[in-house]
Amino acid sequence: MCGIVGYIGNQDAYPILIKGLHRLEYRGYDSAGVALINPHGQLNIYKAKGKVSELEKFAEDKDISGHIGIAHTRWATHGEPNQVNAHPHFSESEQLAIIHNGIIENYALLKEGLMQHGYTFRSTTDTEVLIQLIEYTQRTSKTDLRTAVQLALNQVVGAYAIAVLDKQHPDTIVAARKGSPLVVGVGDNEYFLASDATPIVEYTDKVIYIEDEEIVLLKKGEEPQITTISNVSKTPEIKKLEITLNQLEKGGYAHFMLKEIFEQPQTLRVSMRGRVNIDRDCIALSGFIDNRERFLNAKRIIITACGTSWHAGLIAMYCIEEFARIPVEVEYSSEFRYRKPVINKDDVVIAISQSGETADTLAAIRLAKDAGAFIFSICNVVGASIPRLSDSGCYTHVGPEIGVASTKAFTAQVTALIMLSLCIGKEKGTLDNESYLRILRELGNIPDHISKVLQQNDRLARFAQMFTYAQNFIYLGRGYNYPVALEGALKLKEISYIHAEGYPAAEMKHGPIALISQEMPVVVIAPHGSTYDKIVSNIQEIKARQGKIISIVTEGDTQVTEMSDFCIPIPKTEECLTPILSVIPLQLLAYHIAVAKERDVDQPRNLAKSVTVE
Ligand code: F6R
Repeated sequence: MCGIVGYIGNQDAYPILIKGLHRLEYRGYDSAGVALINPHGQLNIYKAKGKVSELEKFAEDKDISGHIGIAHTRWATHGEPNQVNAHPHFSESEQLAIIHNGIIENYALLKEGLMQHGYTFRSTTDTEVLIQLIEYTQRTSKTDLRTAVQLALNQVVGAYAIAVLDKQHPDTIVAARKGSPLVVGVGDNEYFLASDATPIVEYTDKVIYIEDEEIVLLKKGEEPQITTISNVSKTPEIKKLEITLNQLEKGGYAHFMLKEIFEQPQTLRVSMRGRVNIDRDCIALSGFIDNRERFLNAKRIIITACGTSWHAGLIAMYCIEEFARIPVEVEYSSEFRYRKPVINKDDVVIAISQSGETADTLAAIRLAKDAGAFIFSICNVVGASIPRLSDSGCYTHVGPEIGVASTKAFTAQVTALIMLSLCIGKEKGTLDNESYLRILRELGNIPDHISKVLQQNDRLARFAQMFTYAQNFIYLGRGYNYPVALEGALKLKEISYIHAEGYPAAEMKHGPIALISQEMPVVVIAPHGSTYDKIVSNIQEIKARQGKIISIVTEGDTQVTEMSDFCIPIPKTEECLTPILSVIPLQLLAYHIAVAKERDVDQPRNLAKSVTVE
């Protein structure tokens, strides 16, 4: 949460910073700000409540000159989202400015100490405490900025990615990270700094990923200098960026979310490329092959994730237990990390995260790693913290997911988890060869099946108009499609703000059925499979109480279709693969209802994409 950008070089910093903020807006959008040192050595800060566009309006008639600057888009943690609390923050003397992504947990104690030394505070943020501490350290220890940052960070408990400007040194940015991401872009006699590579990609493909507890000094005309907060020098390692510029644009779609939904046939092809080999009838996952014994000897698999990624984990529980016969526990990372879980050395822990930066999931795998478990991660963002901390893993390679609601990352996570469970099952001998081959061949058909489901987009868009009245929705599924019910409900609530609940269909009669009335749309995911007959009975129970049925069924279905008010067919496929198809109409349904309600689909209220705070 929160996006940070920095620039130092020969170009005008302001347009680069603003463009960078727009790219990072998915990380938070309740206020934004920019700090620039102009050619006369003045340090100017401009801030505005609301989105980056508000900052642009605010800065229209201001002095935005300067070849060095830092900028921030905020998702508030400490202090309400207003102009004063927006970043950057000045130090007491207004010589220094800071931007920060993260939380300083011991800020109250530090603030008290600084107040005793006469410091006053303009905002209610933890970040202002940090810049005051840096200034206080710089003054009392009579040191340079980098050392002051280092000494101050040694007193800090919490998470941070920060960048600091010093008016006295208009050719220098000092930045550091612990727990929040930070990337340096290396240009021609210029440097870029950002929370992820998206603001950097159009200027350079050379990046340095800053590691936890590292401080980087960026000075015009000099090599970046990296030291740890315990003052050990490090050699910067320059890597090549994999993302491209057109992946960051809407490409003619009204929203990133719609573009990302429509990209799914292609993203899954890329995810499976080099892994699912139909001609040779095998699946090759290098993260599995290199660590075969760890998986085959695992007494248990623990899956840890948050939100949509957790739903993907729940689907994995069904397929890993079915094919590999290894007990699976699926844990919310935020609960797992705090409940003193029993973790054994022969456990395999699978972390699932699109961003690879989710604070709770990162903390959960640290805990598991300390307990000696083997960590395998399924992430999308290459080089992010979670894959770097893991022993092994599998990237989903779906390209940047910019819409705050996760769509293409989910289908790729499920695909990766199915591939993994097939690999383990085959090697363990718990999955017969015939089933293995059938499913792997069918995996190859999934992208075309998704394209077919997407052809129903216009029909779904028209249908969605009828549901803008609804205050509540229920989503029901069984077996492999129970997690899809949870995911469908999450998609709807996060972007349309309509209350929605997902349930295993049979649980209805244990309480929620009391909610059913003519006003209640019930979305039932009922493709053909082992629980089809059971779900037919569940639908009858709802019908009897006048609930409105929207169903997802297999093409050619008659029974559920006849009972439904609206029906969306999906192609016939293997049962374990149905979630990858059944979730598509639910993504589209949520999208079109949200559009009809004129919601901010790509940046829904109160949310941010990369949840780097607990
Ligand atoms: C919902 C959504 C979130 C994320 C969750 C975990 O659409 O995007 O629920 O799935 O915040 O994020 P990652 O996968 O980045 O760890």
